[in-house]
Amino acid sequence: MLNPKIEKAFNEQINAETYSSYLYLSMAAWFDNQQLAGFAHWMKIQALEEMTHALRFYNYIHDRGGKVSLKPVAGPPANWQSPLNAFEEVLKHELLVTGLINKLVGLARKENDYASDNYLQWFVKEQVEEEASAEDVIGKLKMINQTEGGLFLLDKDLSARVFTMPIDVRL
Ligand code: FEO
Repeated sequence: MLNPKIEKAFNEQINAETYSSYLYLSMAAWFDNQQLAGFAHWMKIQALEEMTHALRFYNYIHDRGGKVSLKPVAGPPANWQSPLNAFEEVLKHELLVTGLINKLVGLARKENDYASDNYLQWFVKEQVEEEASAEDVIGKLKMINQTEGGLFLLDKDLSARVFTMPIDVRL
């Protein structure tokens, strides 16, 4: 049986992960409008990955005998000043999500819910990667100083990202 406090907090995290997906899909649309299809592709994959994060919480709530309860998802911004500005916002958002995950770990420990604590460790590790991948693109954008030629090459680079459905996420 899932502790009601954990159930509520995990349902809120489904909302946060779904918002992340929506935010990155909005960024994909913005990049598509800038004729940067590779950046848009990277963002669409990021949006798909965020939905798998939401599904992980969904499945876990069910597995523990809890109830999934979905709330309205906020509308994301639609415009950014530049590709660098968009990726700086990605990093800012991921730092916020890291904070949310850390709070969930704190709650699980406070409630002596060791199964939830254990489950959350996947997300703790994932957030390290999420922050690093945003920092990586920010570093490259700064390196090319957002020149047209540099953006063209980086766009090509980002178009190579591949989405693979994680085998441990049940549909
Ligand atoms: Fe679901 Fe980007 O963290």
